[in-house]
Amino acid sequence: MEKKSFLSLCAGLASIAVAHRMLAEAGRADEFTKWPKAMLADGAGKPINARRLETREALVFAYPYVSTPCFLINLGAPADPVEVSDKSGVSYHWPGGAGPARSVVAYSAICGHLLSYPSKRRSVISYSSGPNNFSGHGHVVACCAHHSAYDASRGAVILSGPAPQPLATIILQYEPATEALYATGVLGRALFDDFFVAYKKELVETYGPGQSKRMVEGRTVATPLSQYSDNVVSASLC
Ligand code: FES
Repeated sequence: MEKKSFLSLCAGLASIAVAHRMLAEAGRADEFTKWPKAMLADGAGKPINARRLETREALVFAYPYVSTPCFLINLGAPADPVEVSDKSGVSYHWPGGAGPARSVVAYSAICGHLLSYPSKRRSVISYSSGPNNFSGHGHVVACCAHHSAYDASRGAVILSGPAPQPLATIILQYEPATEALYATGVLGRALFDDFFVAYKKELVETYGPGQSKRMVEGRTVATPLSQYSDNVVSASLC
C-alpha cells in the first residue's frame, strides 16, 4: 500500500473510532457483531431464493449458534433504514431490508422480554403479515407469552408489551447473481448468553451435552415455522 493511502486509511479509522465514542456517549451504540458467514439453504441444502420467498409466514433458521433460532421474513415491500431504540434510550442504525426488493429481513427469534423462542415442540412467538390482535399492527413479530409485539418492517422496534428491547437483527447479504442470502452478523443485543443459561436443560436434551454452543458452519437450513414447530400460537390471534 502506498504511504499516502496508508495514512488516509489510518485517518479514516481514527475518525470512525472517535465517531463511535461520541455515539456511545450520546446513548447510541453500533452494536454489530460479525459472525462467520452462513448461506441460508432449503431442506435439500440448496440456496434459498430471495426472489421466491413467501410473504405470509416466517422461516426459522439457526444463527450464529446451532441452537439460536432466527426468523427470515419477506415483508413483500421495501423496508427503509431507521434508527432503532430500546427502552433505556440506547439506539443504533438499522440498515433496512435486503434482497432484490429490499423486502427481506431477519431477526433473532428469542423474545427480548423473557426469552421465549420457537422450539420443535411449540412456538409462542411468530410473524404475522396482517394485523395482530393486541398491537393492531401488521408486519409484526408477536410473542404471545406476555404480548410483546415488534415491528418487523422497522428493525423490530417494540410496538407494545413488556419487552425492554427490540429483537436483535441478523444482518443479511444478498448475492444478485444467485439470488442467495447469507447471514453475516448480529446487530443489537442478542441475549445469547442469557438464553443458554435459561434453557440449559432443554438445550442439552435437544442438541446433546456441549453441543448447543456450536457455531453454524457454511450453511443453515431455513424452514417455515409451521413445519419447524409442532404447535405454533399464531401472532395474528394471540
Ligand atoms: S417472553 Fe415474550 S413477551 Fe414475555
